[in-house]
Amino acid sequence: MEKKNIDWGNLGFGYVQTDYRFVSDFKNGSWDEGKLTEDATVVINECAGVLQYAQTVFEGMKAYTTEDGRIVTFRPDLNAERMENSAKRLEMPVFPKDRFIQAVVDTVKANAAYVPPFGSGATLYIRPYMFGTNPVIGVKPADEYQFRVFTTPVGPYFKGGVKPLTIRVTDFDRAAPHGTGHIKAGLNYAMSMHAIMDAHRQGYDENMYLDAATRTKVEETGGANFLFVTKDGKVVTPKSDSILPSITRRSLIYVAQHCLGLEAEEREVTLEEVKDFAECGLCGTAAVISPVGKIVDHGKEICFPSGMTEMGPVTKKLYEALTGIQMGRLEAPEGWLQVI
Ligand code: PLP
Ligand code: COI
Repeated sequence: MEKKNIDWGNLGFGYVQTDYRFVSDFKNGSWDEGKLTEDATVVINECAGVLQYAQTVFEGMKAYTTEDGRIVTFRPDLNAERMENSAKRLEMPVFPKDRFIQAVVDTVKANAAYVPPFGSGATLYIRPYMFGTNPVIGVKPADEYQFRVFTTPVGPYFKGGVKPLTIRVTDFDRAAPHGTGHIKAGLNYAMSMHAIMDAHRQGYDENMYLDAATRTKVEETGGANFLFVTKDGKVVTPKSDSILPSITRRSLIYVAQHCLGLEAEEREVTLEEVKDFAECGLCGTAAVISPVGKIVDHGKEICFPSGMTEMGPVTKKLYEALTGIQMGRLEAPEGWLQVI
């Protein structure tokens, strides 16, 4: 199969239209069989539930070309399960897990010419999503929905590649206790737009959100979970009911414990103790593991010993192990790779 003529090495994290996307409609209580289409345009009523009350959920995952030339995705079953939880929280129908995985496989296969080659530094980002399509004017769930999957080749999420990030502690809150912080819904990102633009205007790459109830505990950023390394080399990730349960983070904890012989722990992390960590990173599908060099808390700088030029040594080990598994350089734990 001939690859598209794309400058893979210079892709940013943006939208490039690919040839096919999967579409399935939910009507009268059931999903239709769905199909691949070349039509990238969605036409919906002006009063569609998604447009009025933001009834939409989504997922983010990637397809990789392995060293031996296969195309794989990473743990799509967990994305399907998370989307199920997101849908239920917004009173939307569930797109069944086996069909979700099949839709992802079919869409990636149809766009194989856009899956970046091994070693190019780029990947194919996959965006499954679902939204309420019929007119809704009183506040209530839609009766009709559309589930779609599109793909787009992407490069690094943060400009500057592996240069450590500078993050500020923000006064905005991302998620309320018992709210929707743990699901992947558009509403969580709409409310983050002002905070991220404000951070950028002040010269920061991202926001560190704290828990809204006490403002003493580390939550996450707008698009990734935190990962810390203690001075004695232990991996620590914040535990909270109001952060998105990152598949990357859960995988890294497993890799740390089972592949790298490191101690790894998910627990509450206070802002107060952040200054005592040796390394910090952001983890997620888009972020992979992006190193954090500095966190600024209202003018007070926390500079990690790993510095502003390189990834810390433990972060680097985790990065190599995770990407090694995703790109087929290292053996993947049972069931982690779905071959396309
Ligand atoms: N947290 C937020 C708010 C995100 O948007 C994402 C991205 O999906 C993550 C964390 C990382 O999750 P995952 O590793 O499953 O991509
Ligand atoms: C992802 O990592 O897949 C995300 O969804 C983060 C961001 C692009 C919203």
